Amino acid sequence: MSERLQFFATAARGTEPLLADELAEFGAKKIRQDRGGVRFAANWNEALRICLWTRIAMRVLHPLGEFNARGAQGLYDAARSIAWEDHLTPESTFAVEATLRDSEHTHSGFVALKVKDAIADRLREKLGRRPNVDPRHPDVSIAVHLSKEKLSIGIDLVGEALHQRGYRVHSSPAPLKTTLAAALLRAAGYTGQESLVDPMCGSGTILIEAASIAANRAPNLQRKLGVERWPKRGKEASAILDELRAEAIAAQRKPARPIIGFDRDADAVRAARQNAAAGKLGGAVRLEVSDAMQPLPLEAVPPGLLITNPHRRWAERNEDFLLQARRNAAAAPRLADVHSCREPRLRERFPSQTHQRTRFLEWSNRVPAAWIPRAPMKRDPGLLECSRGVFPPARGGAGCFRDG
Ligand SMILES: C[S@@+](CC[C@H](N)C(=O)[O-])C[C@H]1O[C@@H](n2cnc3c(N)ncnc32)[C@H](O)[C@@H]1O
Repeated sequence: MSERLQFFATAARGTEPLLADELAEFGAKKIRQDRGGVRFAANWNEALRICLWTRIAMRVLHPLGEFNARGAQGLYDAARSIAWEDHLTPESTFAVEATLRDSEHTHSGFVALKVKDAIADRLREKLGRRPNVDPRHPDVSIAVHLSKEKLSIGIDLVGEALHQRGYRVHSSPAPLKTTLAAALLRAAGYTGQESLVDPMCGSGTILIEAASIAANRAPNLQRKLGVERWPKRGKEASAILDELRAEAIAAQRKPARPIIGFDRDADAVRAARQNAAAGKLGGAVRLEVSDAMQPLPLEAVPPGLLITNPHRRWAERNEDFLLQARRNAAAAPRLADVHSCREPRLRERFPSQTHQRTRFLEWSNRVPAAWIPRAPMKRDPGLLECSRGVFPPARGGAGCFRDG
């Protein structure tokens, strides 16, 4: 049970350093960032705890092998060399999902099919019968990644991707992925011990993720993990998970500080309310219709974090946002930290921030590429910046951030 195994947690591009941080906190060892995820070592217990608690990972895979695979036959031979009889029985069902990067094959379905054939043939040979494929609700999900000729094959511990937390019953335009919202909160250093305001909250993803942190809620507590259906380890995993779940429920707490969201769109606020209720965090989040360009009712709010996810083009059209954010922040002394998009035009208007940017470089570098909207807008990482500052402005520096 205490033997350390290798795992690979996948995450949105750009959030790997934040996931690595999170995994280290959970006690993972030999952490190594890779493109699109983080490799780590953990014993079975630790890995299951990570599945329950990770806020940033999308999937947790147990790698079974890495191969150099050329052509269709190369894929087949590599997959057939794995001892699938250690993981599957003829009565279990399985599915194979493939992703490709710069590979000679252009169709992921073809790669998945070759691996599936190899698994079926190996099991027929070893066990006399082969298990059936169930693409929708398989007992065992097999993840295949082919990068150039490097073929990685692993078993997915979680089943349905972890960003599907189950609380988004209503959406608003351009919702943030739950795992990205969690990554943003980690980047901002939010631990749930300070108040939090999202002045343009949309469907409330940042608020709900924040409330989950503040309530010390294991984000994946309510779901049945894929590993529980594995024929060989499912029972053992369920028994461990039952204990971890009981422990997690006992560790929940009431958020100590206010978590408040505003949006000028009443439909968005309604969606956010319904989502927070669906996530059983309705009582922890206060929501109001309000325009962030106006002073927000924050006078009685204790110090904390002001964090938001405005539309990328939004800052261009609303140059006064930063100014108003500062005023709103000043209303609640030391209400801190703004995440905002800043176009060059804005920088010219607030030259003092050019100087500040270098001080916030570390965080700027950690802005995930995934936060930059794709086509039809041109991808230009330079346009999106993440800055961190503490309000009110440093004495003597009219309107400038000071390091937090
Ligand atoms: C990109 S969306 C936020 C999405 C949100 N993070 C989510 O996960 O659903 C931006 C939001 O800003 C709101 N908004 C735009 N201008 C605003 C303003 N002046 N005051 C308040 N909200 C505003 C929009 O109504 C929209 O809901």
